Amino acid sequence: MRAILLENVTKKFGDFTAVDGLSFHVDEGEIFGLLGPNGAGKTTTIKMITGLLRPTSGRIEVLGMDVTKETMRVKERLGWVSSEVILDDDLTAMQNLWIQAKLYGVKNWKERAENLLRFFGLEGFKDSKVKGFSTGMRKKLEIAMALLHSPEIILMDEPTVGLDVVSRKAVWEVITRVNKELKVTVLLTTHYLEEADSLCNRIVIINRGKKVVEGTPEELKNSYAYDVIELESAVPLKLNGWDVIYSDGNKYRIRVKDAASVLPSLIMEVGPQNLRKISVKRASLDSVFISLTGLSLEEAGGIDERKLQMILRRARR
Ligand SMILES: Nc1ncnc2c1ncn2[C@@H]1O[C@H](COP(=O)(O)OP(=O)(O)OP(=O)(O)O)[C@@H](O)[C@H]1O
Ligand SMILES: [Mg+2]
Repeated sequence: MRAILLENVTKKFGDFTAVDGLSFHVDEGEIFGLLGPNGAGKTTTIKMITGLLRPTSGRIEVLGMDVTKETMRVKERLGWVSSEVILDDDLTAMQNLWIQAKLYGVKNWKERAENLLRFFGLEGFKDSKVKGFSTGMRKKLEIAMALLHSPEIILMDEPTVGLDVVSRKAVWEVITRVNKELKVTVLLTTHYLEEADSLCNRIVIINRGKKVVEGTPEELKNSYAYDVIELESAVPLKLNGWDVIYSDGNKYRIRVKDAASVLPSLIMEVGPQNLRKISVKRASLDSVFISLTGLSLEEAGGIDERKLQMILRRARR
């Protein structure tokens, strides 16, 4: 059975389409990544899967149940870690868990809560106020809260946003353990391709509400494993015969199979005297996004629709 299934899901807010004909599925046991820049529609998608938002059209199933029809039953089987702050700073870890237990009607919550705190290495802080917790500890506590009612699936909206590199790695480890040891299916959203690469067995990249590409990190790297050369010239360039995926003034991004072998001829063509800057992004999940859209994930968060659609069409040619 599919843990989660989306079929042609669209969500409109007035005239604005936040999620646009999105389809994908998550298998039981997976760690699945929903990737995209700011405003891509990740949170909206998560909220529709939890039943918090209703799709404008399309179908969403969780463990075979239609979310709009069986919202309460779905809620029992799903845990959700919001990207917003939900912890009460003035309460202790256990008190926060107690509130969660009340909300979800969890019986014998105390034992379960203590076990979870132990699982996350927080047992020493159970009676400490959350006020003094680091961002990493807070995230672990939020995950513990989401798992309190023993759901089979957990949705995490940007679980590592705002964390430093060390805490980010610690949260990755926790997510992997939740998946492997507690046997919970994970759907997470992220901006970081690197994160999806090391955590997820499958990913879907969305942009402006639409699916850009889907696959395992390996598949994506193999099929779209282009190097991207970024160069800035003192004069406008023609670059005939090169696969220019983006240009802005005299700044260009060129997609190539192997940068090292073509750099000399590219530099000759530009004219070394004209070259202001040149750099190479080697094939990675990051360059998958760039080679499909012409943009880095960050830039994609702030570009207008028409320009992006044009770039996407060109990239898919
Ligand atoms: N309630 C709402 N009313 C109107 N527009 C909304 C609403 N919720 C979200 N949007 C818009 O829908 C688009 C998608 O938002 P969403 O929060 O799903 O993106 P996201 O991928 O989670 O972005 P981020 O990475 O910034 O969290 C955005 O343009 C946002 O402004
Ligand atoms: Mg979001």
